[in-house]
Amino acid sequence: MEKNDLINPGLENENEEKQENVLRPKTLKEYIGQTKVKENMKVYIEAAKLRREPLDHVLLYGPPGLGKTTLANIISNEMNSNIKITSGPAIEKAGDLAALLTNLSEFDVLFIDEIHRLNKNIEEILYPALEDFTLDIIIGKGPTAKSIRLDLPKFTLIGATTKAGSLTTPLRDRFGIVERLELYEPEDLKTIIKRSAEILDIDIEEEAAMEIAKRSRGTPRIANRLLKRVRDYASVLANGKITLDIAKISLNKLDIDDIGLDAIDKRLLDTLINKYQGRPVGVDALATTLGEEVSTIEDVYEPYLVQIGFVGRTPRGRIPLPAAYKHLGINLPERETSKKYSNQIKIE
Ligand code: ADE
Repeated sequence: MEKNDLINPGLENENEEKQENVLRPKTLKEYIGQTKVKENMKVYIEAAKLRREPLDHVLLYGPPGLGKTTLANIISNEMNSNIKITSGPAIEKAGDLAALLTNLSEFDVLFIDEIHRLNKNIEEILYPALEDFTLDIIIGKGPTAKSIRLDLPKFTLIGATTKAGSLTTPLRDRFGIVERLELYEPEDLKTIIKRSAEILDIDIEEEAAMEIAKRSRGTPRIANRLLKRVRDYASVLANGKITLDIAKISLNKLDIDDIGLDAIDKRLLDTLINKYQGRPVGVDALATTLGEEVSTIEDVYEPYLVQIGFVGRTPRGRIPLPAAYKHLGINLPERETSKKYSNQIKIE
């Protein structure tokens, strides 16, 4: 396995998805962290149930691996409804979406992952479906073509995206509920790791769970992956019990440092600090230099580096911040460039 697989929270294969399902909480009560989102959703779900109406359409956004799919499943479970799961790129033709919509039952949840990747022509079919639960279908071609309007069951769309900014305004405006998932604090990740260890029958010390949590970049999917890899080391090097020592040794072997940075993070910071000497760098230039996709930089690497105050986003590009120099043991330059630009950092 590539080391990067541990960090990149995209799902690699079906098998992993199945394994992840075992660890997924089924109710809001079981779902750890994201307190604000949970509190809001609890109220909206209860209110919709009291009115005997479907829940308003929900948009969940935030970095990958934070539990958007999990939350969609929980929402449908709490509404006592069925969920149909698809993704933006999987819906290739207007007919695919029409088939999905006409097969829904009253109060069903339709979950569209990566909804920002929905084809724009197809997106337009969604508008009346979301607004009035109708579907306009054109039958035939040319002058004899006829448009017919079908009534759809009242359903709830849950859209998930890592890029809320890439959604068109008409689509975004049709979601009555918009919730942003935040990176998790280590304490919450520790609780998630202990819960997963219990389900997977892994013996782990409290301090070891915290060590993995601190190196999981605020992301439950990474925490669960690291737990499984550390378990491998524990089985081979010790008697299977994950102690603090075993956790540290295995995570170091995986080249994940004490705050969760991997080789690519380090190269990214090194590029900003040494190659560009702290001047703002556009994300396209950064991606080219690192040989990575722009979306990987934006969705996978940057959110955590920004969250821990290592990288700043300015209107002119990305800059390294003093904490990054300190972590890498590099002296701040005399005319500290990052200071010059740091008053331009965007507050999000
Ligand atoms: N597994 C992944 N995300 C989780 C969460 N928020 N709570 C509990 N288990 C999880």
